[in-house]
Amino acid sequence: MRIWTYEGGYDNNFSYLLAGDDTQDAAIIDAAVPFTEIEPIIESEQLNVNYLLITHTHGDHTAYAREYRSSLEDIQIAHFGGGSFPESLSLSDGDTLSVGQLKINVIHTPGHYPDSVCFQTEKCLFSGDTLFVGRTGRTISPQGDSRQLYRSVYEELLPLPGDTVIYPGHNYGHQPTITLKENIAISTLLQAESEDDFVDRMAQYERSRTLGS
Ligand SMILES: [Fe+2]
Repeated sequence: MRIWTYEGGYDNNFSYLLAGDDTQDAAIIDAAVPFTEIEPIIESEQLNVNYLLITHTHGDHTAYAREYRSSLEDIQIAHFGGGSFPESLSLSDGDTLSVGQLKINVIHTPGHYPDSVCFQTEKCLFSGDTLFVGRTGRTISPQGDSRQLYRSVYEELLPLPGDTVIYPGHNYGHQPTITLKENIAISTLLQAESEDDFVDRMAQYERSRTLGS
């Protein structure tokens, strides 16, 4: 699989462009950077972008969605539940999308936001704002829910193979990507003993943010 990473947007956001090794079909994950940043690779590699896959509908992840769609003839916007864009594809938990020879699995991971999903293909997990390098996402925005986040992270993501590489929605860690196994080892929010323990750890983390540490 080929992955191109673009950083920018509202707050060190990432957009990703992915394609299989042997086909021209491609997908973009999140619309966080202007199309002009992605366009040169699409043209030089002669890619046919089938989907814009949105990890969740917070504005920084959808900012350039309409621009991508007006620039790319065959692109379809896809996000959990659909409806945020005209003619968008509604994704559900357990869906599998084909992009050339890539099979992209949709994992619904509410908690940071109700329509949060992760996209898993081969050994890669595009985790949006559910999982970052060094910690989980936050649950302070309206409709965030740390108990839901616990279930999403601990039941859906942590059981994935340890060599799965996390591609998060923002560059918030000491490096852009990390294996799941390494991430668990360095992240106290990924070491909770129980749901209540996780909720306590999240509250403690948010207090540390408020204090500016
Ligand atoms: Fe978000």
